[in-house]
Amino acid sequence: MTDTTCLVTGANSGIGKATAQGLAERGAHVVMVCRSEERGEAARQAIVDATGHDAVDLLLADLAVQADIRTLADAVTSRYGRLDALVNNAGLYTAERALTPDGIEMTWAVNHLAYFLLTNLLRDLLMETAEAHGEARVVNVGSEAYTGGTIDLDDPGFAHTPYSGMKAYARSKLANLLFTYELARRWRRTGVTANCVHPGVVATGFWDRNTDWLSWAGWLFKWAYKSPESGARGPLYLATSPEVQGVTGAYFDGTEQVTPQPKAYDEETARRLWERSAEMTGLSMLD
Ligand SMILES: NC(=O)c1ccc[n+]([C@@H]2O[C@H](COP(=O)([O-])OP(=O)(O)OC[C@H]3O[C@@H](n4cnc5c(N)ncnc54)[C@H](OP(=O)(O)O)[C@@H]3O)[C@@H](O)[C@H]2O)c1
Repeated sequence: MTDTTCLVTGANSGIGKATAQGLAERGAHVVMVCRSEERGEAARQAIVDATGHDAVDLLLADLAVQADIRTLADAVTSRYGRLDALVNNAGLYTAERALTPDGIEMTWAVNHLAYFLLTNLLRDLLMETAEAHGEARVVNVGSEAYTGGTIDLDDPGFAHTPYSGMKAYARSKLANLLFTYELARRWRRTGVTANCVHPGVVATGFWDRNTDWLSWAGWLFKWAYKSPESGARGPLYLATSPEVQGVTGAYFDGTEQVTPQPKAYDEETARRLWERSAEMTGLSMLD
């Protein structure tokens, strides 16, 4: 991966941090996107110390804030001449319904709209990289929790229907898959591939951030889950392995390609999701 530039969101913790470290071990120039300077810098330093590789940068952005995502995309575009892999990983589960400063339900904003907006804003850089160097890759970290998800484009953030953290999380992870398939369709023949990965059930901070019964039960069984390094295997495989060169519009459980339920690749839903997401992010219709 020497000479490549790879960006990971949510890189100060869990799967994102292990993915950033794996990319640093492989010699990539790593761009870590975090929302806290303190947590981000601590993780950046830990990765440099662990790998002896110092081409590891930290960029700050709260991915719940669309203005931050735009500033981030501008910074990436102006600072880096290429982007070989974009790993959309930052995500959360929130037991209580919360709104972002933009007035959007938090899970939908961070887990789906941030993936959508950042990827589209980095489109030119990704496509230029693919043209100059043969390929660029978008890796969306999803979850098998998508199986419990439904899409409601009239009310994506549960403003008019009863909120449950699990329903919101499952919806956002179903959106990760639909977005991946639609992105792969829209960007076919550009050399930019798009794939989605379930990392497995992983012992990360994910289980520590809420006090509802689900998080509590998840926390209780953390000892039985995969390590963050093991959870990062799938994202790293999709971002770096020659075995998946040219593979696009696919879903992986770790490093194994699997077929999701049909609702995850319904073309009409994916097209409407793209249009609604463009509307919610103020993105002019692309392609
Ligand atoms: N753990 C699992 O079992 C599991 C299973 C399937 C899928 N996943 C997926 O894996 C991804 C990573 O989760 P994880 O398990 O590694 O959890 P984690 O340890 O809680 O890491 C989540 C990361 O996302 C960042 N983040 C959250 N909200 C953000 C925001 N508004 N702006 C910027 N960054 C934000 C967090 O930053 P802070 O530290 O600043 O909050 C943290 O770096 C998520 O997409 C999750 O859905 C996890």
